Amino acid sequence: MQIGRHPTNVALVGFMGTGKTSVGRHVAENLGFEFLDTDELIQSHTGRTIADIFAKDGETAFRALEKQIVRELSTRAKTVIATGGGLPTNAGNLAALKSYALVICLWASPEKIWERVRNQSHRPLLHDADPQKKIRELLAVREPFYKQADVLINTDLRSVREAAMQVALQFKLATRVRK
Ligand code: S3P
Repeated sequence: MQIGRHPTNVALVGFMGTGKTSVGRHVAENLGFEFLDTDELIQSHTGRTIADIFAKDGETAFRALEKQIVRELSTRAKTVIATGGGLPTNAGNLAALKSYALVICLWASPEKIWERVRNQSHRPLLHDADPQKKIRELLAVREPFYKQADVLINTDLRSVREAAMQVALQFKLATRVRK
């Protein structure tokens, strides 16, 4: 694969429940990179939980914090960055990520996503009367953004380890020196 850039980082994008954080940690270990997660950075910068930011300041304020983090990460190298599920839908974030990272989207079907998130409660956007419908709706809106990633990896039938191996392989292929 040739992408015409020389990324020094890996950015994982994709819907909630596609495994960005767990896969990202494995990839970082595999490549000997540092691991960062945009949600964790926002929480440590603000000293607040994502749920509290959504509840008190609203989604727009949260998206502004995400945008700021994407800008701040531009000086990184050798880092695997897991991003929040809605981050690529905000204007400019994907282009900014692509300027310093190979952007890999972890994809999953709405059914698989529901299976993975149904017993978790920390995601404000899924606090909905019909979370399965909400997943389908959000996924439909976000699909065009996710598909702008450099690489798309379907995680429906892949374990965390298998998905991580694919991500690391894609990074090595994209950054190998051609003779
Ligand atoms: C969000 C996904 C969450 C978090 C926030 C909003 C979204 O991250 O950023 O709750 O808009 O999809 P994960 O994708 O890591 O769950």
